[in-house]
Amino acid sequence: MLVLIHDTYDAMSVAAAARLADQIRRKPTLTVGLATGSTPIGLYNELIRLHRFEGLDLSKLTTFNLDEYIGLPPHHPQSYHRFMREHLFDHINLDPRFTHVPNGMAQDVDAFCDWYEAEIERAGGLDVQVLGIGANGHIAFNEPGSSLGSRTRIKTLTEQTVADNARFFTDDPERVPRYAITMGIGTIMDARELLLLASGPSKAQAIHDAVEGPISARIPASIIQMHRKAFVYCDPTAASLLEHEYRG
Ligand code: PGA
Repeated sequence: MLVLIHDTYDAMSVAAAARLADQIRRKPTLTVGLATGSTPIGLYNELIRLHRFEGLDLSKLTTFNLDEYIGLPPHHPQSYHRFMREHLFDHINLDPRFTHVPNGMAQDVDAFCDWYEAEIERAGGLDVQVLGIGANGHIAFNEPGSSLGSRTRIKTLTEQTVADNARFFTDDPERVPRYAITMGIGTIMDARELLLLASGPSKAQAIHDAVEGPISARIPASIIQMHRKAFVYCDPTAASLLEHEYRG
């Protein structure tokens, strides 16, 4: 695991995007796991810039998003389908046939989750997975206590995550869905490379626990200590509680 601390959120986003773009240039058919939330927006903005102004071609990429709320249709303003369109898909040249976001309206959620896992496998597995981290140490919607070997499945959101995400639902926690489909921790760990991004003081404890704490289902992100090729991109505030020294 390599911890990379950049001076600002923008610098961190550009560095993570550069790493991803470099891999896309070397292997245009890359399979990439994508994340939602505020953190990866800077990375997506930089990918859009690279596409528009530096000819980065994303047309052969296959993508799989980490998660989606149960009960929100793809056009719902707070759905992750919509988020991805607004922040990335509508601005680059991905092929819609090769982009995947879990279906929060699936009739048979278990069957859908099995299908999603099979599709990832059929695509050759995830080459790179982009990740944020929750203030409670979650990755995707794998909340504390999630099985470290879990696969794509339905999960109940914790009260903290509901409260954290209420800002996207007119600050009304009642509007936040209670369930989500999420890739499992095992699914994420199978990716050949992880890019975990964290910004801001609200992530400092989670980053400390994930990077320097014991590996435990209490902090699902701590499992990345076991990954062969994980990069943790932080800004100084997210890195502020780290005890060891890392490269700037
Ligand atoms: P955020 O969410 O990027 O909006 O902070 C990250 C997460 O909960 O995984």
